[in-house]
Amino acid sequence: MTLQSAIIIGASRGLGLGLARALAEHGASVTATARGDAPDLAAAAAASAGRMTLATVDIDDDASIAALVAAVAGKSFDLVFVNAGAFGPRHSSPTAVTPAEFAALLWTNALAPIRVAEALLPSLADNGTLAFMSSRLGSVSLNTEGGYDLYRASKAALNTLTRSLAVRLKGRPVSLLTLHPGWVRTDMGGPNATLSVEESVAGLVKVLDANRTPGHRFVQYDGQELAW
Ligand SMILES: NC(=O)c1ccc[n+]([C@@H]2O[C@H](COP(=O)([O-])OP(=O)(O)OC[C@H]3O[C@@H](n4cnc5c(N)ncnc54)[C@H](OP(=O)(O)O)[C@@H]3O)[C@@H](O)[C@H]2O)c1
Repeated sequence: MTLQSAIIIGASRGLGLGLARALAEHGASVTATARGDAPDLAAAAAASAGRMTLATVDIDDDASIAALVAAVAGKSFDLVFVNAGAFGPRHSSPTAVTPAEFAALLWTNALAPIRVAEALLPSLADNGTLAFMSSRLGSVSLNTEGGYDLYRASKAALNTLTRSLAVRLKGRPVSLLTLHPGWVRTDMGGPNATLSVEESVAGLVKVLDANRTPGHRFVQYDGQELAW
């Protein structure tokens, strides 16, 4: 693996924790963030032979983002990976959701990832990778079966914001990746999902390694490019 330093935003559990673990196992120096108590992440850091260090951020909170930026000042990352996300109300109904619930979901899944990423851009090395954990469900053109309306809308908004970010980054040597991890057995994906965290993360690490040239791509865990 060519990535040597990474920051993973949202690594307390699930895919973020799996990614932080896998990158550290591949020898990268990893800064892994949580927003609160994260015993599994603390255990992973303790077992990482010093390759994983911990930091704190709640991406919904600009003051918390500013504190993270101050905490990592002077560090340079080959990879900034914004993984944090939420599913929103399980009913996923546009008629049942409250304005506050929908606003919170859009904030966490679409705006906050962009805000934390932009704040960390000065810490992204030249020829570095900026990755966002989106979902195939965020593809507008692949949405032929419906369902999960609110979550889909939030990830479609994230995808659109990453495309606008790609335009702002034009001319900078950055690989911008909008990623789909597959359907994964986490608290969000549930027990019936097709992939384990380890399977998804092993694929994502290969995708990160194979896509280090500048440009913007929407790619899933097995390397297949997805339609927007
Ligand atoms: N699992 C799947 O099948 C699947 C499929 C497609 C896409 N995804 C995406 O993959 C990413 C990870 O999902 P997962 O399955 O690992 O879900 P998960 O187990 O529910 O973990 C979500 C992670 O996001 C963090 N997070 C949520 N809101 C945050 C905030 N405001 N600030 C900082 N961290 C926050 C959580 O931290 P706390 O522990 O503090 O809550 C947790 O670490 C998400 O973006 C999700 O949408 C997952």
